[in-house]
Formats: sequence, C-alpha cells, structure tokens
Amino acid sequence: MAILVTGGAGYIGSHTLIELYKAGLESVVYDNLSNASKESLKRVAQIIGQEITFVEGDIRNKEQLRELFSNYSIDGVIHFAGLKAVAESVQKPLEYYDNNVVGTLRLLEVMGEFDCKSIIFSSSATVYGEPNKMPIREEFPTGNGITNPYGRSKYMIEEILKDLSKSDSSWKIVILRYFNPIGAHESGLIGEDPNGIPNNLMPYISQVAIGKLNELQVFGDDYPTVDGTGVRDYIHVVDLANAHVKALEYLQKQTVMPEPLIVNVGRGQGYSVLELIRAFEKVSGVKVPYRIVGRREGDVAISYADATLAKKKLDWVARYDIEKMCADSWNWQKKNPNGYETS
Ligand code: NAD
Ligand code: UFG
Repeated sequence: MAILVTGGAGYIGSHTLIELYKAGLESVVYDNLSNASKESLKRVAQIIGQEITFVEGDIRNKEQLRELFSNYSIDGVIHFAGLKAVAESVQKPLEYYDNNVVGTLRLLEVMGEFDCKSIIFSSSATVYGEPNKMPIREEFPTGNGITNPYGRSKYMIEEILKDLSKSDSSWKIVILRYFNPIGAHESGLIGEDPNGIPNNLMPYISQVAIGKLNELQVFGDDYPTVDGTGVRDYIHVVDLANAHVKALEYLQKQTVMPEPLIVNVGRGQGYSVLELIRAFEKVSGVKVPYRIVGRREGDVAISYADATLAKKKLDWVARYDIEKMCADSWNWQKKNPNGYETS
C-alpha cells in the first residue's frame, strides 16, 4: 500500500516524501511539473537512498488518474497539487479555479471510484481573511475578506470537502491550514525554488543575501504591529512535512469521520518582517539591504496560529525555531544559487 502525493515534486511535497520515508511509508508522486522539476525527486532519492516512484500527470485528467489508481494500490492521498501564486491568481482566475478547484474535484471523483477515501488537503491561513482577533483558531469564520482567487480556491475546496464528508462518512478528511512555510531540508539538497522574482519574503531575502537581487522591499511599516511591518507565523517546512505524517496516523486510527478534521499548522508565534531580516542576518552573517515601500495590496497586518489543536488531535508540535528556519533557507540558497537549475 502506498500514499499518493499529488504535487510531490514541489517545495512542501518533496520535504514530505522524506518524512513519509522516515515513517516507513511508501509514496507515489503524481505531478504535472508545472511548477517543479524531476531534479527535486532525484535529490530526495539521494537523501533517502531510495528511488521515488513518479508518475507525470495532471490532477484534472481523469483518465490519467484512473490509470494511476489501477496501477498502484493507493491507501490514502496527500493532496499538494495546485497553483499558489497570489498575484498571478488575480490575473488568471479561471486558470486557478480550473487547476485547484476542478482538479481537486476530478481527483476526489476518481478516489471515490477506487474506494480510496482518505485525503489530507493543503489549505492555507488565507481562508480566514482578516480575523479581528489573534491567535487564529480553527473555528474562526472563513471565506470572508479573502482578497484573491488563490485564497478563494482554497476556501471553495474546503467547502467541497465538508459537503463530501457530510454525504458519506466513510470519507476520512484532514484539512491542514498552513501558515508561512520557510526553510529547507538541512542537507541543503532540496528547498524552495521559485520561478523568476520571488513573491514571498524568505526566498526574496535569501536572493538578496546571495547577491541575485539588490535590495528587499519591505511592504509597509505603518501596520499596528511591534515595528509597523507585517507579522506572520513562520514554520519550518520539515515541521510542516511532519504534520502530514501525523495527520496520516490520525486518519489510520479513524473508522468513520462525520466531518473533516481541520487543523492549523503554525508555531503560534508571530515575527515581523524586520525581525525575520534580523534573524537571517544573525545566522548568515550577511547584511540584507532593505527599503520600506508602500503596503502590498491584499496583505493582512498580522497572522499567527493558535496551534493547540494540532498538538491535541495530531500530537504534533513544531520543533524548529526561526533561526533554524533562516539557517536552513540560507544553506539551500548558498548551495543552489540558481535553485535546481545548477545541476
Ligand atoms: P509548489 O508549487 O512547490 O508545489 C505544488 C506542486 O503541484 C508543483 O510541483 C506543481 O508542479 C504541481 N501541480 C500544480 N498543478 C498541478 C496539476 N494540475 N496536476 C498535477 N500537479 C500539479 O507549492 P508548495 O509551496 O509546495 O505548496 C503545496 C501546496 O500547499 C499547494 O496546494 C499550496 O497552495 C499549499 N500552500 C502553500 C503555502 C506556501 O506558502 N508554500 C501556504 C499555504 C498553502
Ligand atoms: N513581504 C515584504 N516584502 C516582500 C515579500 C513579502 O515585505 O518582498 C512581507 C509581506 O508584506 C508580509 C510578509 O512579508 O507581511 C510575508 O509575506 P509572504 O508573501 O512571504 O507571505 P504571505 O503571508 O503574504 O502569504 C503566504 C503564502 C500565501 C498564503 C498566505 C496565507 O505565500 O500562499 O500566506 O496567509 F495564501
């Protein structure tokens, strides 16, 4: 029996393959390589000393999915596949809804056909919109104040999963709402490899540090936060990957689930942009030049999780602190200045 990992060649997926291996679980990666290359899988194989089973395909293609489920005995699915660039989703909403929402529907349909009814879905803190209280708890309302189609696609998929669960309690579903994953495997062999100029803070910082970009633009210093810059709950990608193994263990223990288990995956601690820059400078010994500019449209001031449910339900806690996250991001960046292209 194996775990199907859709989007397994990507940033979070590739790290999760290692945690699955460490837990003694077989995985099959299904990815259309739209935002990844096979190089990440080669590197994972190098780390674990074992080849990764890979099938190239798209979650929107039911025929390909049927063939996949016919060829492998799939016990459960970790569903990472999707498009994730917030700004691009505003430009290309149909592409995002098609890929993320329609793709997930096709996947669920084929899973149902093959009576494979366990799934862990990659959702995002973005579904909470702009909550008026911190820390964010899972029961806070979702769906209001989401500023982009990417975020709405995550919200829509969550609602679809809730309806599916209601219709048939033999579906076992965990929805993980990720906060801000950063960092990399400590080998420096795999990490985040954004296309072009990064949208997210950590890859931007590390590309400034390596000299590929001149300076970081800090989007706003007039938020009601410790130093005026945006506050986020950064989480080491290896910790996040491990949460998926814990979620699988949880699913294996359930017989029926009347509703999906929805869990925040964060550390429960917020850091400002300037605090993250300082932590990065401290561990790397490299200065990160930055300039304060205006706010970025759609950004919230503060977002951090109440992470107690993850501990209670999944027995999961984050192990790595902000300095380890910065050290591992920097190690990956230094060893792979051009990401996976260097090899
Ligand atoms: P990523 O882009 O590195 O990985 C996604 C993978 O899915 C890529 O390898 C891509 O090629 C593949 N893919 C995309 N569309 C596909 C399709 N139609 N069929 C098959 N494969 C497809 O992104 P990531 O950072 O690893 O994120 C994984 C998941 O977690 C995504 O669903 C993302 O929305 C979600 N998420 C990420 C973050 C974050 O900050 N990285 C935060 C919250 C949620
Ligand atoms: N920031 C900068 N300069 C940059 C990039 C980011 O100052 O060049 C700031 C942002 O304004 C924000 C913080 O750094 O305050 C973090 O920004 P990121 O883009 O790294 O992360 P976001 O919190 O905006 O977005 C992330 C994921 C989204 C997801 C969202 C959910 O990238 O996919 O969390 O909260 F939807």
